[in-house]
Amino acid sequence: MANLPAMVSLKHFLVLSLALNVSLILRMVYEGDQQGSNNNNNKMEGYNRIIGKSRLAISSITSFANSTRKDRSGIMDKVINLDHGDPTMYEQFWRQMGDKTTIIIPGWQSMSYFSDPTSICWFLEPEFAKEVVRLHNVVGNAVTQGRHIVVGTGSSQLILAALYALSSHDSDKPISVVSAVPYYSSYPSMTDYQKSGLYKWGGDAESFDKDEPYIELVTSPNNPDGYIRKSIVNRNQGLLVHDLAYYWPQYTPISSATDYDLTLFTVSKSTGHAGMRIGWALVKDREVAKKMTKFIELNTIGVSKDSQLRAAKVLKTVSDCEEEKSENGVESFFKYSYRMMEQRWKLLREAVDSGDLFSLPKFSSAFCTFLNQESETQPAFAWLKCEGDIEDCESFLRGHKILTRGGKQFGASSKYVRISMLDTNDNFMHLIDRLSTIQTKQQQ
Ligand SMILES: Cc1ncc(COP(=O)(O)O)c(C=O)c1O
Repeated sequence: MANLPAMVSLKHFLVLSLALNVSLILRMVYEGDQQGSNNNNNKMEGYNRIIGKSRLAISSITSFANSTRKDRSGIMDKVINLDHGDPTMYEQFWRQMGDKTTIIIPGWQSMSYFSDPTSICWFLEPEFAKEVVRLHNVVGNAVTQGRHIVVGTGSSQLILAALYALSSHDSDKPISVVSAVPYYSSYPSMTDYQKSGLYKWGGDAESFDKDEPYIELVTSPNNPDGYIRKSIVNRNQGLLVHDLAYYWPQYTPISSATDYDLTLFTVSKSTGHAGMRIGWALVKDREVAKKMTKFIELNTIGVSKDSQLRAAKVLKTVSDCEEEKSENGVESFFKYSYRMMEQRWKLLREAVDSGDLFSLPKFSSAFCTFLNQESETQPAFAWLKCEGDIEDCESFLRGHKILTRGGKQFGASSKYVRISMLDTNDNFMHLIDRLSTIQTKQQQ
């Protein structure tokens, strides 16, 4: 009897794994069928690729299930760290792309500080700028016409560059920086860690009622809860920074091309290349773009050219696949990652719905102009709520060796935690198993 919870949970897990495999294969075959229906050769090639990929997916999940059977106690001891939004989930896709994104940089290349001395952003590599514009045109998520591109060492550096550029350098007091709760947990510390005289953290945008200039950080879809957002304060002294790190088809339906004054994107969450440390800003106002460039000049004298060239190649590969310019009909990155996120959210919702301890936000589907179909909101993070008497969800889950980020860090209640949905298959499947086990034990 003592083993009953473990057996029930294992059974639960195996059923979920089976559901994942079956629906994954069915979807892959179905989509391969549709894509290849115009051409029989393509169709056969498509099936072969799909079957190869399905085998890969199945073998990793089956080996996880087998290891679960052999050593369950070891598995329950494993610490599952899902605190950071480290996008390791995408590694498998890029491995399968082989050398398509490999670049070789000879020792004599990229030596100068300068990339294009005639451009406002003089350290912006023209090839990278070209691929940024192309990708936005392919996906349809942002207007690039009439915009200046500023490249940054991740969008993190661009957030600071934007605060520097938008604040008044003559004012005798710092401008308030606000964002609606729950906000991205790094915003307060990024804003205040240098105790700048130019700007200071002003907290929740909902409660900001001062009759003075302010900067509002609008994150859409939002980190941590995944909802689409508009500016909250909406007064005429407000300066807006739109952080659209997650406005990509795998996370949310693309409804239109955004057309804001200052918009931030990053390869960290779009293609999963967080280690490249490359982000970009689309900036309407020339003077703001100049000041952002100045900030980056003062801060790091530009942005790694090697990283920009690598990012250009990755973005080019993504666009080539979408425009079917790549050899051998390589799979669309966004369709692949959409399916991965879809499967993960399905499994997570099943695990959460198997008991009463937890709940998740609900989203409605909408038409995605990129996928050309009704599509789901499936955020990069799960904003999980502990129900009932559990007041500190982070500590509760830590007690079960699941590391998450507690609601208070986002300005919200400690009943919530943020869980990364972008981690490795293994970690994600351990999470599903662990959540199911916790709920099964609680029901006994
Ligand atoms: C909303 C948001 N903005 C910015 C960043 C920073 O991204 P980067 O890796 O480009 O610095 C993150 C990273 O998690 C994020 O979630």
